[in-house]
Amino acid sequence: MRIFHLISSPRGEASISTKLSSAIVEKLIQANVGSIVTTRNLSTEPFPNLEEVHIGSFFTPEEEFTPELAAAAKKSEDAIAQLLETDIIVIGAPMYNFTIHTALKSWIDHIVRANKTFAFTENGAQGFVTGKKLYIGLSSGGIFTEGPFKLYDFAEPYLRFIFGFIGITDVTIYRVQGLNVPIIKETALQQAIDSIVI
Ligand SMILES: Cc1cc2nc3c(=O)[nH]c(=O)nc-3n(C[C@H](O)[C@H](O)[C@H](O)COP(=O)(O)O)c2cc1C
Repeated sequence: MRIFHLISSPRGEASISTKLSSAIVEKLIQANVGSIVTTRNLSTEPFPNLEEVHIGSFFTPEEEFTPELAAAAKKSEDAIAQLLETDIIVIGAPMYNFTIHTALKSWIDHIVRANKTFAFTENGAQGFVTGKKLYIGLSSGGIFTEGPFKLYDFAEPYLRFIFGFIGITDVTIYRVQGLNVPIIKETALQQAIDSIVI
């Protein structure tokens, strides 16, 4: 199996979402001996926010590329190629301000591309990134699977939607929650790791 591990927390070794996604990768390796893992840390190797040059490159025919447009397009093309050549994607995603970190959003903005990873057809939107399995390790200070904050979880629904939109529908999300809640925070990570079933 080719496994692509995408880290999006800026907190390095201290990151809880990275610890959780790394545990998912470890279990995947145990279950699929001989797997090849490629890791990309979006904090140390970031994708730029979409600027005019990137959007221009998305909608300009290749024959008309300037060197700047070609360089801008290459980032997106390389990211899409890396995604397409992968069997399993594992993402570590911290919740920041009730949604995902901008580093992950910027990467998503480079891989969700009309006529590359999705298209609008007569039958509606169609995703082209099919046959993949996606695992996400999602960390948050609060609790979102139940209680008063359930309504304000824009991270898990967004991630499920956007990956489904490009064709990745086999999505498993493990959450480590309550990292800002006394008592819960001490055991939250281990409980989340113990719940991983591959
Ligand atoms: C800038 C910032 C914003 C945060 N926003 C939220 C939030 O909206 N909701 C929440 O439950 N936790 C929030 N947290 C807590 C993080 O989700 C929590 O610390 C998590 O462990 C971060 O993941 P990481 O350890 O992988 O970086 C925030 C933390 C930071 C630093």
